[in-house]
Amino acid sequence: MPSVFLKTYGCQMNERDSEAVAAQLVAKGYALAASEAVADVVLLNTCSVRDNAEQKALSKMENLAGQFRKQRPGVLLGFLGCMAQSRGRELIDQLPDVDLVVGTQKFHRVADYVDDLLAGRRDKIVDTEEERGSEATIKEHLLNGAAKAKAVTAFVSIMQGCNQYCTFCIVPYTRGLERSRMIEDIVAECRELVARGVKEITLLGQIVTSFGKRDIPEREGKSAFVQLLDAVHAIEGLERIRFTSPHPKGYGPDLVEAYARLPKLVESAHLPVQSGSDRVLKLMHRGYTRARFLEIIRQLRAVHPEMGLTTDIIVGFPGETDADFAETLSLAREVEFDNAFVFKYSPRRDTPAAAMPNQLPEELIEARHAQLLAVINEIAERKNKACEGRVLQILVEGPSRKNAARLEGRTRANKIVVFEGSERHIGQLMDVKITHAAPFTLYGDPAILNLN
Ligand code: SAH
Ligand code: F3S
Repeated sequence: MPSVFLKTYGCQMNERDSEAVAAQLVAKGYALAASEAVADVVLLNTCSVRDNAEQKALSKMENLAGQFRKQRPGVLLGFLGCMAQSRGRELIDQLPDVDLVVGTQKFHRVADYVDDLLAGRRDKIVDTEEERGSEATIKEHLLNGAAKAKAVTAFVSIMQGCNQYCTFCIVPYTRGLERSRMIEDIVAECRELVARGVKEITLLGQIVTSFGKRDIPEREGKSAFVQLLDAVHAIEGLERIRFTSPHPKGYGPDLVEAYARLPKLVESAHLPVQSGSDRVLKLMHRGYTRARFLEIIRQLRAVHPEMGLTTDIIVGFPGETDADFAETLSLAREVEFDNAFVFKYSPRRDTPAAAMPNQLPEELIEARHAQLLAVINEIAERKNKACEGRVLQILVEGPSRKNAARLEGRTRANKIVVFEGSERHIGQLMDVKITHAAPFTLYGDPAILNLN
């Protein structure tokens, strides 16, 4: 059977979509190629959230279409996902060697389309249609596949799309309107994963706190999302639950309370703040103020003082003044995030922010990016250092990505710990004593603890 190489750009949702596509291809008998050099089909699952993500995938495809295809004329080339959705046929006009363009609501059709193209039944295929029910089609998993020795953690897609329309963001256009899966279906998928050995599940969506908002009524003060957390929490054998990404406006009392009530819901939250300035938050259409954001942080820390907190911040939004940026710096200092993704504002097609006045010069954005990153990193390192000497519970995931001779796991607060262990530790929850903190990684030792 022909082999497929699938390269993924962007967020965890894209990773998950690629995994489902790969699983569907494998189910049809395709092999997964270890590299593009030996593949019969090369698919790029793309990201549109910033321009540089698009440029990366475009230049990769240019390379594939150029020299690479001369050497391997039969190879089939395709774009999937967000950029495929937003650019559609235009991608084939620009790069005529591309055979396949499949948008975000048609991932489940990729394997059939590849069949058709390879069999010569069709020439070029572009499918960026919307499809009712497509939110329920990302469900196949590739556990214990070629890439993973033993899957301990898994992502489960619970919804697609976003209706928030932040003024800088292309996602509502590439991913469509919010559509949620049924709680029973999600739970069934999670149950199956746990039966196959998975210990930790991350529930995924662009705005998970809006899960089921329109279809599932509140019950006993619990939003649909918290009802889902309850249902997943009840699965026996599951040890940990995470989710990403929530929106601050979805952090109602029921969700804060869920952290106290549900022991499997780990003490970790990724809470995208974007800016510390109320004026900018309003221009971004974020739907909360700085004060409200800080209140959520206080509430979460009141429940779990050790809560791991990470965020996304954009610098250089149109019209961002020195004073606005100073508010972002002060918010970062006040919250003391464990880590943050700091992004340079990138104008996206069709978004309101791209047409706003006062687009800032690149050098200013660069300078603010460097300044904020320095603050974020300094705090992150200090917080990591504070873990030295402490005993933390980790879930062992497998060989360390930095050093395959060692293992790595993550703490409940989502910090990576590297330690010396053996195969039998994989998939186990264990306590490790943190012996050394590097800026982004902790090193631990289980043996010391065993002597206690
Ligand atoms: N809710 C989604 C957001 C997707 S985009 C999620 O799952 O994370 C991820 C992050 O990219 C956003 O939180 C934002 O910080 C950043 N981002 C989005 N659009 C951007 C743009 N136009 N320029 C720079 N950064 C952007
Ligand atoms: Fe984008 Fe805002 Fe939704 S960042 S994904 S429009 S919450």
